[in-house]
Order: sequence, then structure tokens, then C-alpha cells
Amino acid sequence: MEFKQFGKDGPRISAIGMGTYYDPLWILTGYLGWQRGAAEKLGALKAGLELGMNLIDTAEVYRSEEIVGRAIRGMQRESLFIATKVMSNHLKANSVTKSLESSLKRLGTSYVDLYQIHWPSQTVPIAETLGAMEKLAELGKVRYIGVSNFSLKQMIEARAALKKLDLASTQMSYNLLDRKIEEDIIPYCRKEGLSILAYFPLAHGKLTKSEALLKVAEAHGKTSSQVALNWLADKDSVFPIPRASTAAHVRENAGSVGWQLSEAEMVYLESLRPPKVSPPVR
Ligand SMILES: NC(=O)c1ccc[n+]([C@@H]2O[C@H](COP(=O)([O-])OP(=O)(O)OC[C@H]3O[C@@H](n4cnc5c(N)ncnc54)[C@H](OP(=O)(O)O)[C@@H]3O)[C@@H](O)[C@H]2O)c1
Repeated sequence: MEFKQFGKDGPRISAIGMGTYYDPLWILTGYLGWQRGAAEKLGALKAGLELGMNLIDTAEVYRSEEIVGRAIRGMQRESLFIATKVMSNHLKANSVTKSLESSLKRLGTSYVDLYQIHWPSQTVPIAETLGAMEKLAELGKVRYIGVSNFSLKQMIEARAALKKLDLASTQMSYNLLDRKIEEDIIPYCRKEGLSILAYFPLAHGKLTKSEALLKVAEAHGKTSSQVALNWLADKDSVFPIPRASTAAHVRENAGSVGWQLSEAEMVYLESLRPPKVSPPVR
């Protein structure tokens, strides 16, 4: 596995992570205590961990923290980088604390490596949420603070509201078909040393079947998915977090790093759906 530095001064973590948002039925049945395909999903996570994919992204709303907890049980905690998220209706100070405690219980751990605000709030001041997160960090329950689905303006406001810590990362949709964040968020994060967790790295599965990517993939003995993920993981500050429900998919995704696309291939891939404004970011 290839490892890259997280944030400005964070640990080196796997260049490719594992996402764990499954589907609405999974979430719904999670409330009933029975989730279809749990054994297969658990096997997938364990396969990724065995291959050194130590970055796992979950969220209180995904109902997948329990399965992540089961996958990491018995592992050396320091070897892992567990990211979870607080949902947008739990952003008042008391709720943030309660949410984290519940997440820790479900994950079976005493701290999370990255605690992210899942979506910005329209009503709760950002300083209140971040103040609570900083307190949790002081207590050793959170190592790094991140956001998700924040505009650049909201990220700048969040950083200004933090008293002791800085934001370490943001999590945004980013893939070969959706390069909107190249306009502002990527250049800002690169300049300021923030990491980007790229969600929808396979465009929700669309890129796994791309004929255009297959042409490039075949030249490397790789698959379309591996090309799509390599294109993202090649960027210093970007960590793709594909969700994969089977061990076979996870193994394939693990093989998306440790090799390089040529400059000409990059140009070809980026010509498929060029960004609206700025030039490509590498
Ligand atoms: N912050 C946010 O608001 C937000 C929003 C959405 C998602 N996320 C995070 O980002 C993660 C990824 O997003 P996503 O799951 O929606 O989209 P995605 O990773 O772009 O695509 C997932 C789809 O690709 C398939 N897949 C994965 N690896 C494959 C492979 N090697 N070959 C063929 N198909 C493959 C999966 O199938 P199988 O499942 O059958 O393996 C699934 O159908 C989520 O799990 C979650 O952690 C965050």
C-alpha cells in the first residue's frame, strides 16, 4: 500500500481509503438491528485492512459505525485512521458531545482520528460546533477536525472560528466526471496544507464501467475503476474513499495505487470532462 501524509502535520495514511455509506435500506434496517449483507461487508473491510488500507470513512448517519467497529476489533488502534461525521441536526454543543460518545461506543474505540461536520448548519453558529469539537480534542477523543460539503467561504469561516486547532481536511464529491472543486477548494487546500477526502470517487459506480477509461486501463493491465481512483490518489492532498461492499472490489481498489498514469494519459482523461473554469490540478 502507498501512504501519504494527512493534513499539514498528520500521520501517513493509506493513499486510498474505504467509504462505508451503503444504501438507504442498510440505514433503515440498521435501526431494526438486522442488516442484509453484513457478513460480506465485514469481509470487505477486513480485506482492505489486511492490504494496509487503514483510512476508513464512516458517519453516524450511515449506520455503518458498528460494522467498522467489528472490522477493527483486536487491531492495533494506532495503526488505523478512523474518520466519522456528526450529522447536521446534531451540531449544537451538547449534541456534538453526545453524538461523538455514541459514535465511539459503536466503533468500540476511545477516540476517532478525524471528526467531520457532515453538512454545514443553517442555524447553529459554526463557532459553537467547533468549540465543542475542540473540547473533545482536548479530552483526547478527537485527533483532527474536518468538514464536509462546506463551500470555500464556509471553510474559511470555520478556520477563523477555531481557537486552538486548525481544520485538517474537507470531504467533497470529486471524480473525473465532477471536478467542480478544482475551481476553488483544491487550490485553497493545497496552499493551506489541508487534505481532501474525495467522495463519489467512482461517480457512484458510473466510472467502473467507463469504456473511455478502459482504453487507458488495458495499457497498464488495470481496470477502469483503478484508473479513476489512481487519477485522484496521484494528487498529493487527495484521498479517495470508494465504498466497496465485496472483498473483490476492495482488493481491486487497493490495486489502484502504486503505479502511475503517463502525462499523456492524464491529459486524455482530463479531456473527457474538463473543469468549467481553471486548468487541471495535479
Ligand atoms: N460527505 C458526504 O456527504 C458523502 C456523501 C456520499 C458519500 N460519502 C462517502 O464516500 C464514500 C464513497 O461514495 P459512494 O459509495 O456513494 O460512491 P463511489 O465510491 O463513487 O461508488 C460506489 C459504487 O462503486 C462500486 N464499486 C466500488 N469498487 C468497485 C470496483 N472495484 N469495481 C466495480 N464497482 C465498484 C460499489 O459497488 P459495491 O458496493 O457493490 O462494491 C458502489 O456501487 C461513501 O461510502 C461515504 O463514505 C460521503
